[in-house]
Amino acid sequence: MIYDSSALILAPLSGFTDAPYRRSARKCGCRYAFTEMVDAASLTFAFERSKDLLLRYEDEEFLGVQLLGGNRDHIREAVEKINRFHFDVLDFNLGCPVPKVAKKCAGAELALHYEEAVRCFDTVAKYSKFPVTAKLRILDMDDPEPTLKLCRGLVNCGAQALTIHGRVKKAFYSGTVHHHIIKAVHDTFPQIEVIANGGVNSVDSYLKMKEAASCSRVMLATGAMGNPWLFRQLSDPANYVPPTFEEWRSIIEEQTRGMVELYGPECAYRHARKIYHDYLKGRGFNGALRALASATSSESDLRAWLDEAEKTGVMSHAAQ
Ligand SMILES: Cc1cc2nc3c(=O)[nH]c(=O)nc-3n(C[C@H](O)[C@H](O)[C@H](O)COP(=O)(O)O)c2cc1C
Repeated sequence: MIYDSSALILAPLSGFTDAPYRRSARKCGCRYAFTEMVDAASLTFAFERSKDLLLRYEDEEFLGVQLLGGNRDHIREAVEKINRFHFDVLDFNLGCPVPKVAKKCAGAELALHYEEAVRCFDTVAKYSKFPVTAKLRILDMDDPEPTLKLCRGLVNCGAQALTIHGRVKKAFYSGTVHHHIIKAVHDTFPQIEVIANGGVNSVDSYLKMKEAASCSRVMLATGAMGNPWLFRQLSDPANYVPPTFEEWRSIIEEQTRGMVELYGPECAYRHARKIYHDYLKGRGFNGALRALASATSSESDLRAWLDEAEKTGVMSHAAQ
């Protein structure tokens, strides 16, 4: 078994789930997490530049790496490089819808080409020393068969778990999640672990996902952006206590410190500014505070906007 039966898993999120980001989630109860997706061609041709994506803190309990690619030579070489590191699973991306990726026939576009998708995954499975899994989108909103066909191909190559994002490629990251297609995958492949993904950002959406998709294992993505406490909340809704201002502040400060260590201040604050906006979202902070977050480019700027945030007193009564 890869995941325990009630696993809550932090999704791979490109541009977000680096090691400092995952550390914040882990402080809030996240046990299972993924790296951002790593491009097979980048690992093949620019290994030194892309290997930061493979960083794993020593205390990370479970970490999967996610590979993206559509060229089998690059995939093979990338997998051999990944084998030098330590991961708990190697996941293959068959769900990324962005045009830059689709143009290379990788991600969700590759999933539309059954034969080639299975051949690529077979290459991953053949060369990986880690258990292999895949993350894909549903291929049709009404008919489960196209999705089941692809899943069957992946399972036959040795997939030990499949994460199903219940939206089609053209929906990108929003809109209806088609739970019944995820359920069809769950019911058809009892021999593997099926993880449900899409639209889980609250206790209600979590319970709905588990019931309608029949899956006890759920992957959190945008719902946990700026709200790593969602892990704690969903693990024990009855006893959940929202973060205090001090807890919220300390997570932001520690994540920023980790990013500065990893990338240097300039690059770190450039990345961190978008993360600050996620942390502000839905907590009742005003526009002036968001503007201050956008202008943060040093430790003293960070201290200044967090001090301002404290003065608003908003977190003492904000709904989480
Ligand atoms: C900014 C961003 C980056 C993402 N990066 C990845 C990625 O690297 N690999 C992947 O499989 N999915 C990626 N996804 C998709 C998410 O993992 C997830 O499948 C999707 O957001 C649906 O879940 P949600 O509705 O709970 O957010 C990304 C999504 C977003 C919004």
